[in-house]
Parts: sequence; structure tokens; C-alpha cells
Amino acid sequence: MKIGIVGLGYVGLVTASVLADRGHYIVGVDIDEMKINELNSGRIPFYEPGLQELVDKNKDKLIFTKDYGELLDSQFVFITVSTPTVNGKIYLDNVFSAATSLSKINKDSVIVIKSTVIPGTSRKIKKMLNREVLVNPEFLKEGSAIMDTIKPDRIIIGGDSEETIKFLEDLWSFTNSPIIRTSMEEAEMIKYAANSFLAVKISFINEIANLCEKIPNCDVNVIAKAIGMDKRISPYFLNAGLGFGGSCFPKDTAAITSFARDLGERLKIVEAAIEVNNERPFRAVKMMEELIGELKGKTICVLGLAFKPNTDDTRESVGLKIIRLLQEKGANILAYDPKAKVKDIKISSLDECIQYSQGIIISTEWDEFRGIEEKLRDKYVVDGRRVLNYKLLDRNKFRAIGLGE
Ligand SMILES: NC(=O)c1ccc[n+]([C@@H]2O[C@H](COP(=O)([O-])OP(=O)(O)OC[C@H]3O[C@@H](n4cnc5c(N)ncnc54)[C@H](O)[C@@H]3O)[C@@H](O)[C@H]2O)c1
Repeated sequence: MKIGIVGLGYVGLVTASVLADRGHYIVGVDIDEMKINELNSGRIPFYEPGLQELVDKNKDKLIFTKDYGELLDSQFVFITVSTPTVNGKIYLDNVFSAATSLSKINKDSVIVIKSTVIPGTSRKIKKMLNREVLVNPEFLKEGSAIMDTIKPDRIIIGGDSEETIKFLEDLWSFTNSPIIRTSMEEAEMIKYAANSFLAVKISFINEIANLCEKIPNCDVNVIAKAIGMDKRISPYFLNAGLGFGGSCFPKDTAAITSFARDLGERLKIVEAAIEVNNERPFRAVKMMEELIGELKGKTICVLGLAFKPNTDDTRESVGLKIIRLLQEKGANILAYDPKAKVKDIKISSLDECIQYSQGIIISTEWDEFRGIEEKLRDKYVVDGRRVLNYKLLDRNKFRAIGLGE
């Protein structure tokens, strides 16, 4: 089939390369000219494990262009553009602008909304375009995006027409994943309910971690492991740390809570999860202050700028928030990340960072930060992601999230 993908970010490019690998011809459209040029010169504009190889392997089936006209005669066009939150509310202009551009191409293409949009958005697009629109929310995780697309836990397809839904089911049948048919609004809502629930789980264990820090001989990791063995709870998303970041949880929880308020409802648990999460960077900085005293003039190194390991995505990264807080307090900053680069922040090597700093805050759980206890001797350390073995460190110079004295 000929398939269009509009918006070539993490979701769009991964979807494009996986579908190309299944033998489809893909036209990828983006308004970002630099991105298109980079893709056409064979480079992936961000880091995602295995993606460069998959794009290289299928380059004869992938076209990257700014021209919506190239989408003509596509059987499906997926909208995978960004849907950020601006001033606490979802910003839908990218989606509507993509839909407007699509209104000019042939009417037979099925439009599939993969971007995360608040309930009711896709139906508005359907009315605007006067043609079949399906909602097929994306659940991939950066860092394992290709496998998540090839074998998702489930596929949600929301729509009005049985025939069109069946058409999209056939496209995804290679995944052998369970497919759930829903209304358009339910499909949109499922995505928000899923992300909100996961955000709540993270903030929940982080609050338990706060309490464990005040209790001698108490380690939140032991608590998390034990409660996670209860099938009703499950072990996933119970890692206490510096909270959630990235391009999804922060913006999606903000969007759905504000959407709920507009409808006269409050999502109080989700609002509390956001509040708990917002406190995490302050907690890391306070722990460092408790160890090292006043931060002014001290050199602190932040290990990890990506919002999580195996990605170079720094959107809503807790490492960056910590750097800003440390700078406000007059500390000198050293920073290291295996993949992420940030304008205005110099990245040193891991060894340099450790050698030339007095205090170290671990803000991303990269594997590279495991087993470095020996190098950290004589340094003040805050383990914000529980990657270190505290038994190998001097407890007078070491603090970790969720670890009581
Ligand atoms: N990143 C994730 O892990 C993830 C997971 C699940 C769902 N989502 C959702 O998928 C959507 C895309 O996320 P992403 O992380 O891939 O975004 P991204 O920011 O990495 O990429 C979005 C792309 O869309 C392009 N774009 C914006 N407006 C456009 C337009 N009118 N026409 C063509 N291109 C346009 C941008 O230039 C950019 O390249 C969002 O709604 C997000 O919430 C993301």
C-alpha cells in the first residue's frame, strides 16, 4: 500500500520505518525543512535504538518531503504531528493545520489520528474534512519504540465505519496484538487515561519514597518490589526517582486535567500526581544542600540530561530542571549524558565531570552510571534514580531517593 505519515518525529518516523519494513511505500511529510533535508541525506534527527538501521534498510520505500501533494493516492494518511501543551492547555493548531492541508488531497484516503488529542478533536476533523477519520492512539515508549510498534500490548481503533476500521485492523494484523474497537472519543480518552494512570503510579511510589527517607532501615525499592508482586498492582512504573518527564506524561496530564476542569469536573488524583512530580527536582537539590551545605560557588555535576535512558530527548527533563535550580543558587555546573545534547550546556566526559565536581546528582538511569561507586569515593552524591549500590558508599556523603538512614 501507499501510506502517508504527516509529522516525522519519534512517533511518525518509527511508524513510517516499521510500515516500510512490512513492504509498504511510505510518504513522510513534515513542515520542518531542516528535518526533511537531514532525513534525505540519510541521517535520523534524533536517537532511537535501531531506527537508523531500519530507515537505511528500507530507504527505497521511504520518501521524505515537505510537499503534501505527494500524499495523493495514499490509502491511509496517519497524522503524527506534535500536540504540545501551551499555558496548561492542549495546543491543537498543528493537527488542524495538517488536516486542512490534507483536505486538498484525494478524498479516498483514510485519515488516521495517531497524535494524542483531547476527546472530541478527531470528530471535529471528520466534520471539517467530510470523510472517514479513525483514531489510533500511540503507546510506544521512546527507547523501545520499534519493538513497541511491532508488538504493542494492544491496538485501539476508534471510528464510526466498520469497514474502515477493518481496513486499519488488516494493516496492523502483522503485530498479532489484541485490537479493541471503540468510538472515536473512547479511543482519544483511553490514551489519556493510560498516561494519567501511569503518572499517578510514579507519583504514588515517589510519595512513599519521601516517607521511607524519614524511616530508619527503610528502602522504597524493597517496598516497591514487594507490592509489585501483587498482580493487582504489578511491578511496572514503581521505580521511585525524580519523577516523570518527556514529551508525553507532563503535557498529557496537564491537557486532560485542564480539559476536565473545562467540563466542570476535577481529576483530583491526576492533579495531585502533577503536583508531586513538580516537587521532584527541588527534592534532589535540597538533598545535595543537606549534604554539602550552601551551593554557591560549589561545582555540582548532573549526570543525565535525557528525560530517561536510551533516548536523547530532553523535553521536560528533570536533569535540566535541576541544572536551572542549581544555577539559581550560584553553583557551577558540569554535565554529562551519553546521548543528549543541549544548547548552552557544555557536556564534559563522565570522568571529567566526576573529577572536577564536589557534588554529583544522578538524574537519568543510564546503564553507564551503574557500577561507578569506586569513582565516586570522596564525592558528595545524590542518587536520584537509584542506580548505585549504597552499601559501597559512605553514607555520610550519600543520599538516595527513598532510602532511610
Ligand atoms: N514521543 C512519544 O513517546 C509519544 C508516544 C505516544 C504518543 N505520542 C504522541 O504522538 C504525537 C507526536 O509526538 P512526537 O514525540 O513524535 O512529536 P515530535 O515533536 O517528535 O514530532 C512531531 C513532528 O510533527 C511536525 N509537524 C508539526 N506540525 C506539522 C504539520 N502541520 N504538518 C506536518 N508536520 C508537522 C514537526 O515538525 C515534528 O517533526 C504527539 O501527539 C504525542 O503526544 C508521542
